[in-house]
Amino acid sequence: MSAHLIDGKALSQKILDSVKHEIESLSRSGKPVPGLAVILVGDDPASKIYVRNKERACQATGIKSNVITLDERTTEEELLSIIDTLNKDDGIHGILVQLPLPSHINESKVIEAISPYKDVDGFHPINRGRLLTGEDCLEPCTPKGIIHLIQSTGIDITGKHAVVIGRSNNVGKPAGLMLLRNNATVTIAHTKTQDLPSVSRTADILVVAAGRPRLVDETFIKEGAVVIDVGISRVDGKITGDVDFDKVKEKAGYITPVPGGVGPMTVATLMENTLKAAKRAICKTS
Ligand code: GUN
Repeated sequence: MSAHLIDGKALSQKILDSVKHEIESLSRSGKPVPGLAVILVGDDPASKIYVRNKERACQATGIKSNVITLDERTTEEELLSIIDTLNKDDGIHGILVQLPLPSHINESKVIEAISPYKDVDGFHPINRGRLLTGEDCLEPCTPKGIIHLIQSTGIDITGKHAVVIGRSNNVGKPAGLMLLRNNATVTIAHTKTQDLPSVSRTADILVVAAGRPRLVDETFIKEGAVVIDVGISRVDGKITGDVDFDKVKEKAGYITPVPGGVGPMTVATLMENTLKAAKRAICKTS
């Protein structure tokens, strides 16, 4: 059997179109345009590409983007002061500080300074806590994209066994919580899990976010499983996921490619979060 490909590029385009239509309709009823501020400190080449992609997605959806590029030597106080100004700016509904930050800046302090209502990354402890307790919140973008990808297969998540390989705060743990919120039975495994292939083979839905290129081969896969590959590493100059695609596609039912799977979804869900934050703010003031 050869797995169905889950096309993240096509699905992300659908989401961007839907965000665009909703913004047009808000605009027609005289509501303000959602605004997203993206702060980039320093000139890390990968971060610059990510920020450019976010700016493009804003252009595609009609979100007003405000990219603030700061020198590598910007102090923590300066950055906190910029965040404070953006928190108070009614035209800005989402604030994202591109990570990683230079080592002299305390990342947690910066994330906690962002208003939880504008925290479109879903990284603020209030949003993380609300996700844990199942309350409404801004959800982190990559796990939100993962849920969309799984739902796009038409397979009902309820009652399925979902195994997440990876326990990071920004992907593995929240992906587990969001699968649980969707009524899956969830196991969070990791690279130190004993007999990881056996645990993985119990998964109807397997999310791999371990950061280890080609960790998962066909011995990890239950016949027909949905496999979501969050990994993105460069191996011999080639972008490579955590899943050995050629081996796994023969056994899985559905599989995401790398690139073109989870990657484009993260930007699309950021636009969804910005729209959500804007709608909340607009409703509150009108
Ligand atoms: N750097 C890499 N991924 C991300 C992300 O999702 N959000 C932020 N703020 N920085 C990142």
